[in-house]
Amino acid sequence: MLFSNIPKLALLGYLTAQRVSGEVVPLDSNATSIASPPALASTTATPCICTEWSQISPAVAECTSITLDNIQAPASSAIILTKLKTGTSVTFSGTTTFGFTNSSQFRPIQIAGNNVTIQGAPGSIIDGGGPQYWDGLGSNGGLPKPGQFMKVQITNNSILKDLYIQNYPSHGINLAGVINSTVQNIVLNNSLGDAPNNISNGLSAAHNSDGFNVGNSVNLLLKDCKVWNQDDCVVVSDSSNVTVRNVFCSGSHGLSIAGGGTGPGHDIENIIFEDSVVTNSTNGLRIKTDFNATGSVVNVMFSNINLSNIKNYGIDIQQDYLNGGSTGIPSNGVHVADIRFLNVKGLVVPAAMNYYILCGNGSCENFIFEGVDIQGGGDTSSCNYPEGGCPE
Ligand SMILES: *[C@@H]1O[C@H](CO)[C@@H](O)[C@H](O)[C@H]1NC(C)=O
Ligand SMILES: *[C@@H]1O[C@H](CO)[C@@H](O)[C@H](O)[C@H]1NC(C)=O
Ligand SMILES: *[C@@H]1O[C@H](CO)[C@@H](O)[C@H](O)[C@H]1NC(C)=O
Ligand SMILES: *[C@@H]1O[C@H](CO)[C@@H](O)[C@H](O)[C@H]1NC(C)=O
Ligand SMILES: *[C@@H]1O[C@H](CO)[C@@H](O)[C@H](O)[C@H]1NC(C)=O
Ligand SMILES: *[C@@H]1O[C@H](CO)[C@@H](O)[C@H](O)[C@H]1NC(C)=O
Ligand SMILES: *[C@@H]1O[C@H](CO)[C@@H](O)[C@H](O)[C@H]1NC(C)=O
Ligand SMILES: *[C@@H]1O[C@H](CO)[C@@H](O)[C@H](O)[C@H]1NC(C)=O
Ligand SMILES: *[C@@H]1O[C@H](CO)[C@@H](O)[C@H](O)[C@H]1NC(C)=O
Ligand SMILES: *[C@@H]1O[C@H](CO)[C@@H](O)[C@H](O)[C@H]1NC(C)=O
Ligand SMILES: *[C@@H]1O[C@H](CO)[C@@H](O)[C@H](O)[C@H]1NC(C)=O
Ligand SMILES: *[C@@H]1O[C@H](CO)[C@@H](O)[C@H](O)[C@H]1NC(C)=O
Repeated sequence: MLFSNIPKLALLGYLTAQRVSGEVVPLDSNATSIASPPALASTTATPCICTEWSQISPAVAECTSITLDNIQAPASSAIILTKLKTGTSVTFSGTTTFGFTNSSQFRPIQIAGNNVTIQGAPGSIIDGGGPQYWDGLGSNGGLPKPGQFMKVQITNNSILKDLYIQNYPSHGINLAGVINSTVQNIVLNNSLGDAPNNISNGLSAAHNSDGFNVGNSVNLLLKDCKVWNQDDCVVVSDSSNVTVRNVFCSGSHGLSIAGGGTGPGHDIENIIFEDSVVTNSTNGLRIKTDFNATGSVVNVMFSNINLSNIKNYGIDIQQDYLNGGSTGIPSNGVHVADIRFLNVKGLVVPAAMNYYILCGNGSCENFIFEGVDIQGGGDTSSCNYPEGGCPE
């Protein structure tokens, strides 16, 4: 992922714009303004079962139970569900597709609401059309690709569930400003992007395809999800009280905390990753803080997690991170404390390191390893904290 510098926004004053990776993205895109007006005769009910993209905007204004059935969104036409009435239920059914949109600013699905339910019907598929965009470079360069495939800002006991999403162009689901809500039973399948294509120079065609980016969220439960991708599986920043449970990650950069940021307000607290599997991935479990960043990462638990076929680091805590190349020199502006690894088993490849910990001077405190056993790495583990060295 691009390391996010997300300022702590007033959580509830967050409805009109979201800042992700330094860019301000209006939630309403051009698509809103060109949506057809309801144009209703007084006798005609607004359809709450939408079969065409143009019906979505009026349905959102009128309905509290909306079905999006086999929507083929035209080019540059986002599915905008940001003004849902409190308590609304939205169901994606059939196959949802998007016309080719040659823009990195395009956000295909945008959701915000209080006490809403967003779900997929059995057998439904949301298809991002990734192969039309993938060039091996992701959001780092190359051709324009829609970013953040689904932006979600739900509150007050909302639930996002039962979605099957495949072939998203770059980043997957952005959970920013989610409060007191649950995300469950989501499949993100970008495995088609593992293979190179004819413009990716031998690299995996898909890149920067983060699964879940969690930011500015409080009291979020993310559970029972499966991700096949080519970047972070779940990455948490600027959030508190987030539990990630029963997640399967393949092809990813693992389960991550991205701590700190530029300026004040980058605090992470009470995060649990548990009962999960990370396989065929560059890293297993990771806490990364940018070189020169400030903030805190406090009370994080990784519990009952199995790692296999890990290519780089099994457990990785590093305070020298920079997107595109770590410095090798840690900085100590982010306080990383009360970090527990309980019952974490893993097998990494021979070229990998079981453990890598690079803390700043005095910035790490109280790391606990219990029932932790990472094996297979031929590259000698390196830990400058705790004082006793790596847990092996
Ligand atoms: C998309 O835009 C890029 C430049 O922004 C351009 O090079 C490319 O040809 C465009 N692709 C299509 C299919 O229009
Ligand atoms: C929005 O409209 C402006 C002006 O017409 C255009 O330059 C821009 O590319 C459009 N953005 C998207 C995402 O379609
Ligand atoms: C959301 O919850 C807060 C706190 O419980 C409450 O004040 C607010 O009215 C709720 N909003 C809606 C739209 O239900
Ligand atoms: C949300 O809706 C459910 C019913 O769907 C209701 O039981 C609950 O009290 C609501 N919560 C809030 C915070 O509005
Ligand atoms: C979240 O839930 C807690 C406890 O249920 C409640 O005290 C708090 O006001 C809620 N926060 C918001 C923003 O709704
Ligand atoms: C994921 O997508 C690939 C390629 O499209 C497909 O072969 C595979 O069956 C899918 N996996 C799941 C779990 O749906
Ligand atoms: C690359 O593959 C695409 C999709 O299979 C095809 O349409 C295109 O013509 C190919 N381009 C080249 C340069 O081979
Ligand atoms: C986070 O969870 C703790 C413990 O359950 C609770 O005391 C605290 O109020 C929660 N924080 C927020 C912001 O809801
Ligand atoms: C592992 O992931 C890589 C890309 O990260 C992919 O090319 C390969 O097919 C995956 N292997 C399996 C067994 O899933
Ligand atoms: C991890 O592997 C062990 C041994 O195979 C198994 O008992 C345990 O259930 C696994 N845990 C998870 C989260 O898959
Ligand atoms: C770190 O901060 C120092 C002091 O502000 C600055 O000189 C340096 O360029 C920064 N380094 C990086 C890699 O941001
Ligand atoms: C670490 O910080 C202490 C006190 O702030 C200082 O005395 C020491 O020289 C520093 N060590 C390194 C390696 O920078």
